[in-house]
Amino acid sequence: MGKRLYIEDLKKHIGEKVELKGWVYNKRGSKKIKFLILRDGTGLLQCVYFQGECEEESFGLFEELAQESSVTVVGTVREEPRSPGGVELSAETLKIIAPAVDYPITPKEHGTDFLMANRHLWLRSKRQHAALRVRAELAAAIRDFFDGRGFTLTDAPIFTPSACEGTSTLFETKYFDEKAYLSQSGQLYMEATAAAFGKVYCFGPTFRAEKSKTRRHLIEFWMVEPEVAFADLYDNMELAEEFVEYIVQRTLKNRAEELKTLERDTTKLELIKAPFPRLHYREAVDIIKKENPEFVNGNDFGGGDETIISSKFEKPVFVHHFPTAIKAFYMKQDEKEPEYTMSCDLLATEGYGEIIGGGQREESVEVLEKKISEHKLSKSDFEWYLDVRRYGTFPHAGFGLGLERTVAWVCGLKHVRESIPFPRLYGRNYP
Ligand code: 4AD
Ligand code: MG
Repeated sequence: MGKRLYIEDLKKHIGEKVELKGWVYNKRGSKKIKFLILRDGTGLLQCVYFQGECEEESFGLFEELAQESSVTVVGTVREEPRSPGGVELSAETLKIIAPAVDYPITPKEHGTDFLMANRHLWLRSKRQHAALRVRAELAAAIRDFFDGRGFTLTDAPIFTPSACEGTSTLFETKYFDEKAYLSQSGQLYMEATAAAFGKVYCFGPTFRAEKSKTRRHLIEFWMVEPEVAFADLYDNMELAEEFVEYIVQRTLKNRAEELKTLERDTTKLELIKAPFPRLHYREAVDIIKKENPEFVNGNDFGGGDETIISSKFEKPVFVHHFPTAIKAFYMKQDEKEPEYTMSCDLLATEGYGEIIGGGQREESVEVLEKKISEHKLSKSDFEWYLDVRRYGTFPHAGFGLGLERTVAWVCGLKHVRESIPFPRLYGRNYP
């Protein structure tokens, strides 16, 4: 028996006899030599069985060995510069822990519907595995960035009595005898905790009942939302660009192998360094109109419009000062041009579109009361939110970054559905 190890750690154990547990990713071979590609969650390993050198019974097992059977392998680690992990195993024994009969996902092409219905198994495939390792790294980087800068994690509730991002995408549910909604954003709660802790963030799932099937929309997605007391729109953009640079550069460094598996052109990501270009909404409209003359000044951007803007830059680009008429009730209007808000979106490169939305918040209780009624929201639901202004109101700003769109961008995925383990999509709530 060797020492039980994981594939990703084998480089430090060259020449040692080790034991590995995992699943059969693939097998091939001839009469005299058999190859087993073992998958253990941390990587892939080629295990070589030579007839005469390995245990006879193990060699015989290859006949019945099927893809995704779980196995135990014992052998000696050898350096192999041509293999992805830099090592190979001179295998001695093979034990089948449990068989897998007719595993449905084979190396041949499968349609998206089939793969989505088998998402629980599809996760074992190389590209899916790589994308979700990138997701985990981005999530860790997100936490480290804020934890390392004096932010306090103050998570927001998921059951809420009211809307944050407009009533059209609210997910209604029951809260015993009352009506409740699944949170669209933790922002309003972060504004309250910012008054208690100064610099705060929340990071968790949020929900939007969006009846649209685009490559950028999920029904359930993860959002990180920092909020900073006494910060304005410009402080907010500075924080956002420093943050995006950090999480992208760290992932490039720590997940190089996975990005290679995904065939991501990482030279494009190496350019993601602050500062990022900034455009006033008016300037962005000028750019859009040259290529999309139908665009109506004052409207929100469509996916195509965002792509027009981002194609002009090698770095993500901020668009700030969106029109007041199309923005949420909490957005602060610019005192110099009240038809525009102190808002900002960050558009990712390569056509990935908006990954951040945020801005400076309205701090006046009178203005907010007026806005709440203009937006036809119920004032009684927002009394607590107004209290944040009644007792020592303060300028403050924050933003929300969508994790899945960021994962899709960093990985170069065509659709956000592959950037979360179990995507909730319009028309799909299984598995
Ligand atoms: O622009 P949004 O709606 O902003 C807010 O929710 C603010 N309250 C955040 C804040 O200021 N604290 O959403 C923020 C980000 C978007 O830029 C996008 O990345 C992501 O959340 N997002 C979605 N991601 C996937 N599927 C959806 N349906 C998404 N809706 C928003
Ligand atoms: Mg937005």
